[in-house]
Amino acid sequence: MRGRRAREREARRPIRRIVLVGFMASGKSTVGRRLADRLGWDFVDFDEEIERRSGLTIGEIFRRFGEPAFREMEGELTREFGGLEHAVLAPGGGWIMQPGSIERLAPGSLLVWLRVSPQEAVRRALRAPTHRPLLAGPDPLRRARLLLADREPFYRRADVVVDVDGRDPDDIAAEIAAIARRLAGGNPAGYHDDCDG
Ligand code: S3P
Repeated sequence: MRGRRAREREARRPIRRIVLVGFMASGKSTVGRRLADRLGWDFVDFDEEIERRSGLTIGEIFRRFGEPAFREMEGELTREFGGLEHAVLAPGGGWIMQPGSIERLAPGSLLVWLRVSPQEAVRRALRAPTHRPLLAGPDPLRRARLLLADREPFYRRADVVVDVDGRDPDDIAAEIAAIARRLAGGNPAGYHDDCDG
């Protein structure tokens, strides 16, 4: 596996899209939207897009068609949006586990891991349970710990790590914009310089 520094170098100049990865309820949707606003870029939330297209909640998709069908839908969105320019993408927390997810992203993709603790993830996730069938059940914290242990090696493939516990989404978005600007040597592609990142 290539080291993070090597991938940071590769991600440099120009950064054409930022992909937010991380566990359920790490803030990918909220931070992603604010980051896109800051950069003047488009924002694609995979789960929202899947719910919009299917007319079903994520929970209903899991119940009616099973997790593999949901992963197939995520894969289709990666093929569709993985080359989008000037865009922030927010796939769901399990996207990165699917073989080929990262590889399907076009060059110029900066992967940012929003790192959340299992405690905070569960606190936040229970506010939107229909969206997180994988945490349903009697002991969501135990489930979150197990899932996170499986997934951490995949999240570690990101170019950049940002800790999010207890932080304001605007601050996180500002931090990522600043990192992207630094890595891109001043300006990610299409970044409006008047934004205070
Ligand atoms: C999932 C995360 C969810 C959603 C689905 C599966 C996962 O999205 O895609 O419930 O496998 O971690 P969030 O990461 O936005 O919670």
